[in-house]
Amino acid sequence: MELQGLRLLAVGGASGFALASIKELMKHGAKAAILDLPTSAGAAIAEELGNGTTFHPMNVMDDKETEDAIAAGVEALGGLDAAINTAGGGHARRTLNKEGPYPIEDFRRVIELNLIGTFNCARLQAYHMSQNEIDEPGGERGVIINTASIAAFEGQIGQVSYTAAKAGIAGMTLTMARDLGSMGIRVNTIAPSLFETGLTARVTEEGALNMTKDAAYPKRMGVPHEYALLARAIVENPMLNGDTIRLDGGQRFAPR
Ligand SMILES: NC(=O)c1ccc[n+]([C@@H]2O[C@H](COP(=O)([O-])OP(=O)(O)OC[C@H]3O[C@@H](n4cnc5c(N)ncnc54)[C@H](O)[C@@H]3O)[C@@H](O)[C@H]2O)c1
Repeated sequence: MELQGLRLLAVGGASGFALASIKELMKHGAKAAILDLPTSAGAAIAEELGNGTTFHPMNVMDDKETEDAIAAGVEALGGLDAAINTAGGGHARRTLNKEGPYPIEDFRRVIELNLIGTFNCARLQAYHMSQNEIDEPGGERGVIINTASIAAFEGQIGQVSYTAAKAGIAGMTLTMARDLGSMGIRVNTIAPSLFETGLTARVTEEGALNMTKDAAYPKRMGVPHEYALLARAIVENPMLNGDTIRLDGGQRFAPR
């Protein structure tokens, strides 16, 4: 898709991957709507970015709030061409530990936040994209980028709920792309290794060295701009569709 005038909606856009992607795409002419928690820095960031950037507070755990915030973001943009979904997170605990079996409500919450939250955003974004009028037959109406993790493929000890949720996001990527292909809407997922974002702010230097030692190259945490470069490539390249792309310097997570 053309970046000039691209209308981008970013869920989780107040920080990390999504914010870096907004900045990268804005550099090339996009305009953006940020959706994020009311407690996030979204309002201040929208003001700082300028160029008509808007902020719409919401929580992906709340279906109605999500639907309303997406509609408001699309209205502010005057339509929707591209969406990035990054809201998510985990809960570290083994399937069974000294305190007992994994609490099922915690498992359900992680699935709700990552998998159902992502699907809810994507289905609504696809609806708004489907409203785009295009002149050329077979033309493109939109592109959706979801965020999994390499834990979807090699989950570490204690990551069972997160692994299940992220594997679900990776698993539904091709199906959604097939569902939406006839409308000219693409769907891809980025599966990062360990990156320096708000989510990993408490990872120590020693922890980072340990967690990236098995990478091929580079043996370091990624930076959000590297995610943004892939997001931009996905937006620009129409042949990228239905795939989960690892962004990991050749890293394969060890069991711990
Ligand atoms: N940083 C990493 O190392 C890494 C690696 C693999 C996958 N991920 C995935 O990336 C995503 C996190 O993005 P990030 O790393 O840029 O972190 P981040 O914390 O910098 O940004 C995430 C944004 O999402 C928002 N958010 C969180 N929960 C939300 C909710 N319920 N509703 C609305 N917004 C919410 C946060 O306020 C924040 O602004 C998660 O899905 C995570 O699983 C991160």
